[in-house]
Order: sequence, then C-alpha cells, then structure tokens
Amino acid sequence: MGFILAAVGSAIGLGNIWRFPGVAYTNGGGAFLIPYLVALLTAGVVYLLFDWALGHRYRGSAPAIFRRIHPKFEPLGWFQVGLCFLIITYYAVIVAWSVRYMGYSLNRAWGDDPAGFFTKDFLHLLPSTQAHVTGDVVPGVMWPLVLVWLFVTLIMAMGVSGGLERLNKIFLPLLVVMFVGMVVRAVTLPGAVDGLNSFFTPDWEALADPHVWIQAYAQIFFSLSVMFGIMITYASYLPRRANLAPTSFVVAFSNSSFEILAGIGVFSTLGYMASKQGIAVSELEGITGPILSFVTFPQVISMMPGGHFFGMLFFGSLSLAGITSLVSLIQVVTAAVQEKFGMGVRASSVVVGLVSAALSIGLYSTSNGLNMLDVVDNFVNNIGIVSSAILTVFLLTFVVRRLPELHHHLSEHSAKPLRGWWRLFAGYITPIMLTVMLVFALVDLVQHGYGDYPSWFVLAFGWGALALLVIGSVLLSLLPWRTRVDHFVPARLEGVEPRPYHHHIDPREVQEASR
Ligand code: PFF
Repeated sequence: MGFILAAVGSAIGLGNIWRFPGVAYTNGGGAFLIPYLVALLTAGVVYLLFDWALGHRYRGSAPAIFRRIHPKFEPLGWFQVGLCFLIITYYAVIVAWSVRYMGYSLNRAWGDDPAGFFTKDFLHLLPSTQAHVTGDVVPGVMWPLVLVWLFVTLIMAMGVSGGLERLNKIFLPLLVVMFVGMVVRAVTLPGAVDGLNSFFTPDWEALADPHVWIQAYAQIFFSLSVMFGIMITYASYLPRRANLAPTSFVVAFSNSSFEILAGIGVFSTLGYMASKQGIAVSELEGITGPILSFVTFPQVISMMPGGHFFGMLFFGSLSLAGITSLVSLIQVVTAAVQEKFGMGVRASSVVVGLVSAALSIGLYSTSNGLNMLDVVDNFVNNIGIVSSAILTVFLLTFVVRRLPELHHHLSEHSAKPLRGWWRLFAGYITPIMLTVMLVFALVDLVQHGYGDYPSWFVLAFGWGALALLVIGSVLLSLLPWRTRVDHFVPARLEGVEPRPYHHHIDPREVQEASR
C-alpha cells in the first residue's frame, strides 16, 4: 500500500493539473481519449513494469543497477540521476510559487491584473527577449522556496519508510479530498457545462494527425514519471514478494483518473470564466502551463463568490501534488549519492538538499528565473527524458538482451504470468514511437529554435545543460564506489542463468543483495 501511494504520489504532479487539460483540449478533445488510452496501455503500463522489473530485480539506485547489468552502462544511470537533479532545482520553485499563491488567494493580492501581478510584482520577470543571467534574487520567491527546501530535506532525512512513505500516506489522500472539493465546486458553477462540452466534444479528424498521437505518448510518459530513474529507485525498496503487474494497472489508472478529473475541474472553471466574459471557451487564452495556474485561475478566483476558498483548494492541491512528486525525484539523487559515496541517509539528504537549494535559489528565484526554467524544462522533457528512454530500451533489448529475463522476473512476481505482448511493446513497437517523438522534437528545435529567447540563451541553458549532463555522467562513473556495488547477483529465476559480470570477485563473497 505504501508503495502504491508513493508511486501514485510521484506520478500525480504539476503535469496532471496544468498540462493534461490543455493538451487534451487542443488535440481532439473527447477524441484524444483514444490515443491517450492506447498510449496508457502500450507505453505507460509497459514502461512502468520495465522500470519496476529493473529496480526490483537489481535492487539499487539507477547507477548501481545499470552497472550491475553491465559495467559500461553506469553513465546511463548517472544521466537519469542528472535529469532528476536538473528537474528538482526548478520543480521546487514552482511548488514554492503555489505555496505562496495559497496565501495570495486569501486576500486576492493580485487585484484586477493577475497577469501583471504574476510577472511584474511577484517574479520581477525579465522579458524573454532580454533573457540573460542575473544574480538578483527576488525575496518574495526566495522565502517560500527556502521553506520548501527545508521541508523536503527534513522528509528525505527521515528515510524511505519514515519520511517518504509516511508523507505520501498523509498528503495523497489529502490531495484527493481537496481536489475533489475543488472539482465539485467547479462543476456547479454557471457556465461549467459549456466548458465541459468544449473539453469533451470529439474532433474525430484529429485521430488522423500524427502530432496528436505523439502528444498522447508524450503526456503519458511525463505524467507517469517513467524511464528516468524514479520508478526504478522506488521499486528497489519493495520487498521480494510483490505483485507487480496488477499494481502497475492500479498506479497507471489512478494517475489517469486524476488527470481526467483535473480536465473536468479546469474546463468547468474555464466555462464559467468564458460565460462571465460573454465569450466562447475557444476564445479564451492561457489554458495551459504556469499561465493557466498563476494567471487564469487567479482571474477566476477574483470573479467567484467564495473565491478565496476555491483558491486555497486549487493552490493547495497544486502544492501537495508537487511535493509528492518532488520527493520522488530527490530520492533518485540521494539513493545514488548514498551508494556511490557510502553516505548515510541523513548526510546524503543534507548534502543533496543544500546543493540543490543553492542552485534552485541562485538560478530560478532571480528575475530571469522563469525564462531559464522554461528553457531547461523543455530540453529536459522533450530531449533528455526521451533520449534516456530510447537508449535504455536499446541497450537492454539489443546489446545485453535482457528483455526475456525482465519478462521472466515480472511473471514470477505477478499473480499471473505476463503475456508476450509486454516484450513486443517494450522492446520493439513503443521505442519506434519514442524515436518518432524525438525526431519531431529535434527537427522542430533546429528549425524554429525555442520561444523568442536570444539564441545564445537557448544554446547555453538548453543544449548546454544537456551536454553538461552527459559529461558529468561519464565523469561520475569513473569515480570509485564506496559501497560493495559489484558484490551482487540477482535473485535466482527458474530458467535464467545468473550472470555476475565481475569475475574478479571471489564467488563466495557474491551474495544476493537486498536493501
Ligand atoms: N509525473 C510528475 C508530474 O506530472 O508532474 C513528475 C514529473 C514528471 C516532474 C516529469 C517533472 C517531469 F519533467
């Protein structure tokens, strides 16, 4: 139960609340649910199981696991750790905004210009065309951010079961209650039906558009937090006896249910707003991303009777959803630091907490913060995570050919054996879709650049950040391990030869490791 809650807590994040509704709306509305469901089954569930099989069988942090599979694969593990590290430094900032906006909801501090308030008064934001590196920390953003970092560092220091698991057991039910409360209020607003109609009305022609299918796969991928270390790390703490396959359906469907609920809540609210302004829902702007949450929602909160309460529910939900995902991302980093450098839980939490908080504050709570966040996020998601997924699948399927072993492991640890379709989708069909996604993203970036930022800025913080990750991953894998990472053979599997790679180690020393 603790594992399910933690996995769902990780999956449900900002992406569910602000990304899904807008993506579904612009990609066929009700018809989008078809590619979305296909992606959920062929990529979501499939790679959730892929990650879990790796974590549960090789029991370690991402670098330890890839090293145990093949000594040369360690950098891939560090690349995933690096992606998580980059994400936590800006994800925490958005959580901090949400926490601050809970307070702002009470007195509707944004007055009658939420857009100006968010960019000028709150963020002191530099226009994107003038983006450059600044060191001017904005105190209004920094203090909530310091609070967020203190809180999550404390949770991390309390350990996996005492901190993370307990946090999810409290925050996730609380999130569901608050969010359902928000949605119930939203659907009872006048005009909500118009919003829901425009959200669900199917545009069947969209199904013929390859972009719509790509969007569905992208949404499932990011929303479920698969293939960049999180689910690998979480599964490594599961007890030996586990029932993986059914659990993956529980997690995947809980995440998607929440996402659809968010669509209902957001579009009911937008319907209300449009009817108040006497326009059609299709004429509204700012229906996705940070603008939806920090500009459009504040507008609605000001219009609505009892808006401050609605605002507390909305920003409270955003904060809770963000924190449970944030801790899962941090755990990927602390687990790797613990194993590589032989550090304890507390020491690693403090070190990771301090370093990430410093970067988080120094880079993203400045007047250039949102610009930098936007560029880094785009490159990490559209290039970084997708490349890590393609590389992982390619290496495991074709280079070391471990798909049958992982399949076997999943069958052995599920109530019923897994069918052959899992291997077909995990190793062959879905990677084609991922490669198409990556090619489209690359072509688009090369042809159009990104946003209206100066090109050196995108080069430095988009491509530069990724290049730094690659170099850092290789360097980290060259450092010696302070724990006995290689003294490990995976649990015996009927019909699968145990394959310890480190033959220089005395076989009597090699034992089945468990966490
Ligand atoms: N799945 C979480 C979300 O939807 O927000 C966590 C997450 C995924 C965070 C991908 C960041 C990210 F790039």
